Amino acid sequence: MNPSIAARDRRQIEPVGLIGLGLMGRGIAACLLSQGLEVRAYNRTARRAQDSIPHIEKALRELVGRKLAPAGRLREWKRKFHLVGSVKELSPCRFVIESVKEDLPLKRRIYGELEAAVPAGTVIASNTSSLPITVLQAGRRRPERFIGMHWGEPAQVMRYLEVIPGRQTCPRAVRLTRRLGEICGKEPTVLRQDIRGFLSNRMMYAMIREACYLVEAGIADIETVDKSFRNDMGWWALLAGPFRWMDLTGIPAYAAVMEGLLPKLCNTKSVPRLMRNVVAGGATGIANARGFYRYTKASARRWEHAWVEFTYDMRRLAEKYAKKKIDHG
Ligand SMILES: NC(=O)c1ccc[n+]([C@@H]2O[C@H](COP(=O)([O-])OP(=O)(O)OC[C@H]3O[C@@H](n4cnc5c(N)ncnc54)[C@H](O)[C@@H]3O)[C@@H](O)[C@H]2O)c1
Repeated sequence: MNPSIAARDRRQIEPVGLIGLGLMGRGIAACLLSQGLEVRAYNRTARRAQDSIPHIEKALRELVGRKLAPAGRLREWKRKFHLVGSVKELSPCRFVIESVKEDLPLKRRIYGELEAAVPAGTVIASNTSSLPITVLQAGRRRPERFIGMHWGEPAQVMRYLEVIPGRQTCPRAVRLTRRLGEICGKEPTVLRQDIRGFLSNRMMYAMIREACYLVEAGIADIETVDKSFRNDMGWWALLAGPFRWMDLTGIPAYAAVMEGLLPKLCNTKSVPRLMRNVVAGGATGIANARGFYRYTKASARRWEHAWVEFTYDMRRLAEKYAKKKIDHG
């Protein structure tokens, strides 16, 4: 990219505002800070805001340790990171990312305050996982600046970023959201239309529904289903999407299998019983060491650590194959 265009885009984005410093927000903060961007962040509870600091520091250390950010970032990030006490104090921000919990009335309330605080040109991006962006735009003074920006967890490592324009989003908001993603080392994918669940979540939930069905129907236990998935899709999914995979393995066979198999796949519209039971039993997963599997506190920590390590290894592998430019010539 032409350096003067890159500098102009950065000027239209900085300082970046962030609302919500939970699981996702603190990773997003680390990602922005690793690129030397100035960040102003607001979290409703001050304790949670303070708690984010050691997480951000740790994430930055990991990024620097793996040469994904220059060592100087560790010295300068605290100067560039401003915790603020209200939405109003985000007024200098040119781009704001909202990452509070998935609650429509809460998000709407925040947008009302934000619209009154920031300049007319500020893009407002939501990290919502499931709310249609067009719904978030309804009733806004300047709906054209609202957009979906869906990050992957851990946000500081993943190359995944989906950009979702709502029905009224303007091209400038799309361009700047994509640019911010590229500055952060992501490979942004931009949807042509706003659709519930976006791209990746729609595919993931179709897969989870079938996995639950296979367990509920007694075809295999949880561990067996997980193992088949990991050893099959887990192996090719980093290199190829579903379409590339069909190219690699022969398309006609897929069409033939679909004819017989699609009518047999689970198509329930309700939350599977297996999921409802686990949630009703109080399990949240690794966070409280209770999930589909049993954990001790130590083994939950080991899984958490392994997940972050693994994503760094996967990123390295994905970048290695991207450099090979298999598609060229
Ligand atoms: N968890 C994931 O893997 C994931 C992935 C992609 C997107 N998302 C989306 O990101 C968003 C945040 O998810 P999370 O997992 O980080 O949730 P979280 O509960 O960990 O964090 C939410 C944070 O928002 C803060 N908050 C609540 N009300 C607020 C307010 N009025 N003003 C400012 N801060 C407020 C909370 O104190 C908390 O720190 C959700 O929309 C979610 O759907 C989550």
